[in-house]
Amino acid sequence: MSYQATFARAINDPADFWLEQAHQIPWLTRPTQAFTLDAHGHASWFVDGRLNTAHAALDAQIDAGRGSQTALIYDSPVTQTKASYTYLQLRDEVAQCAGALAALGVAKGDRVIIYMPMIPQAAIAMLACARLGAIHSVVFGGFAPNELAVRIDDAAPKAIMTASCGIEIQKVIPYKPLVDKAIELAQHKPEHCIVFQRPQVTADLLPGRDHDWKTLTTSAKPHEPVPVAATDPLYILYTSGTTGKPKGVVRDNGGHAVALRYSMTYVYGAKAGDVFWAASDVGWVVGHSYIVYGPLLAGCTTVLYEGKPVRTPDAGAFWRVCDEHKVNILFTAPTAFRAVRKEDPEADALRRYNPTSLKRIYLAGERLDPSTYEWLTEHTGLPALDHWWQTETGWAICCNPVGLGMEIPKPGSATFPSPGFNVQVVDPQGQPVPCGDQGQVVIKLPLPPGCLTGVWGDEDRFVKTYLSPYPGYYTSGDGGFIDEDGYVFIMGRTDDVINVAGHRLSTGEMEEVVASHPAVAECCVVGVHDELKGQIPLGLVLIKDGATINGDELEEELVEMVREQIGAVACFRRAIVVDRLPKTRSGKILRKIIRQIADGEDYAIPSTIDDPAILEEIGARLQ
Ligand code: COA
Ligand code: AMP
Repeated sequence: MSYQATFARAINDPADFWLEQAHQIPWLTRPTQAFTLDAHGHASWFVDGRLNTAHAALDAQIDAGRGSQTALIYDSPVTQTKASYTYLQLRDEVAQCAGALAALGVAKGDRVIIYMPMIPQAAIAMLACARLGAIHSVVFGGFAPNELAVRIDDAAPKAIMTASCGIEIQKVIPYKPLVDKAIELAQHKPEHCIVFQRPQVTADLLPGRDHDWKTLTTSAKPHEPVPVAATDPLYILYTSGTTGKPKGVVRDNGGHAVALRYSMTYVYGAKAGDVFWAASDVGWVVGHSYIVYGPLLAGCTTVLYEGKPVRTPDAGAFWRVCDEHKVNILFTAPTAFRAVRKEDPEADALRRYNPTSLKRIYLAGERLDPSTYEWLTEHTGLPALDHWWQTETGWAICCNPVGLGMEIPKPGSATFPSPGFNVQVVDPQGQPVPCGDQGQVVIKLPLPPGCLTGVWGDEDRFVKTYLSPYPGYYTSGDGGFIDEDGYVFIMGRTDDVINVAGHRLSTGEMEEVVASHPAVAECCVVGVHDELKGQIPLGLVLIKDGATINGDELEEELVEMVREQIGAVACFRRAIVVDRLPKTRSGKILRKIIRQIADGEDYAIPSTIDDPAILEEIGARLQ
């Protein structure tokens, strides 16, 4: 069936379309009903179905004859280690780990926070939680203790799973002191902390609360998969919103498994036995969906890579992994290839390897800018396919429909809406805009399976953020346009969220940290263009009258504060002192104009501006 016909069917009869797709996964009780709708038109999927996601990803694959196939390849240039697990081995490790958690009292519905580096135990921990019906919440290792504490308080986990350290190129980062600090800061105190000791660092264990991973799992009794309702939560993944408090995006079991299984065929053209490498981190949604769950649900081999695109040891790192592990499909963020291009503009390193197994390269996390697109396609001769998605949706909202035999990229566009996503562009009043005009990108409800079911513990925030702004639609928070051929172009966030090296961060959160400095009277943080990372944060601060600190000292202290309280991953490195901030007459800071000035873009002076002369002053400071 053509893309157009498939898309039309998914929109016109979603129940029929998705019930058919649901046959692709091994249910314990097959659903008879596709979805129910709430008062806003938001869907709950496969309400009477029962399954276990870890069973579908592992046991059912073994039953289908894939027991001796490699399920997971671990490649770690930072430790010079490689390992692989067959489906049988991975299932057994997961069952043991689930048994260990169960022995500590972790059961269906309990939350478990996973704060881990990119080692196989991170995936094992996630799958072990899924096996028990416990809800995991993975926190990216680059976040500071304060961020971890906020998530501990929100998710109220029974246990935390961690490792003794992470390794960033050559820097060994002890994780356990960060976890200890986070638990100290949090109001909620998890009962257990399970620590995987790595050879580089031995973490101190607190008797009674802390457990050695290996001792605990070796002596545990393997646990069988626990059947859960399709609508039961599989995980919570915190993501940045416009305020300082991250949002706990909740994902269900059934809709998630069906959507990911579908996407493996349709979006990625992957089949069982293919080697699929998402060069991301398990702390992000890409890692959840396409390092762990998606490839395993489709019977593929997944690659878990503990390294960077460059400096581990050089710009040939990605090509080496593709060659050595015979990767068929590679997925990463454009920033990774910008880093490679910067160090190896002519792609000389590519010629040292022979990654002929590679069929396509997928990019997401930020827009695939046309120049990176050109560089990639020119040097690899492979399709470089941009696709747009969000933590909230869990899989691609827009993509190239390769599963329907088409590869039709247009540079700068994420191509067409995936079946199930009725993407539209509207003006602030919610009216559709003409073709080619920019507006807010929204998705007509119901969303297809796999998308968020809510915000953990905060139904009001879920409704207010996503469903109320444009009734009947999901608000994506992204701006963009659809051209006359139906190609969707996503041009950037319309809120205070920024994308730094493919990492989603909140400028509002950084502002809260900056504003808490005793010498800061007022501040704002905006995301400005960066050649390598796409965007980086820039702070503008007003010093309080009477404060004696100079601009350089203040910048140094603010940089340290953001690093301490949010994490190194925020890349907050510049804070410039200004005399005034541009505001509207009603006192709203004109963040967009500040960004445009910093990026050297043309801007229109709004009629509501309090004092237009400030713009020139800011321009001079930012030079
Ligand atoms: N644990 C601890 N610290 C971490 C971390 C982790 N898991 N990940 C990043 N950090 C730290 C880094 O060490 C660095 O600290 P520093 O300021 O002390 O040097 C800081 O956070 C910024 O890291 P990063 O954004 O990775 O910058 P970089 O300059 O080291 O590397 C890229 C730049 C582009 C190579 C890198 O960001 C990259 O590979 N990006 C791909 C992004 C990606 O996978 N996104 C997921 C969506 S698909
Ligand atoms: P995250 O939730 O971390 O995956 O970040 C989601 C945000 O990243 C989106 O709302 C977009 O702003 C941006 N994004 C992700 N993929 C793309 C893409 N292919 N094109 C443009 N923006 C993207």
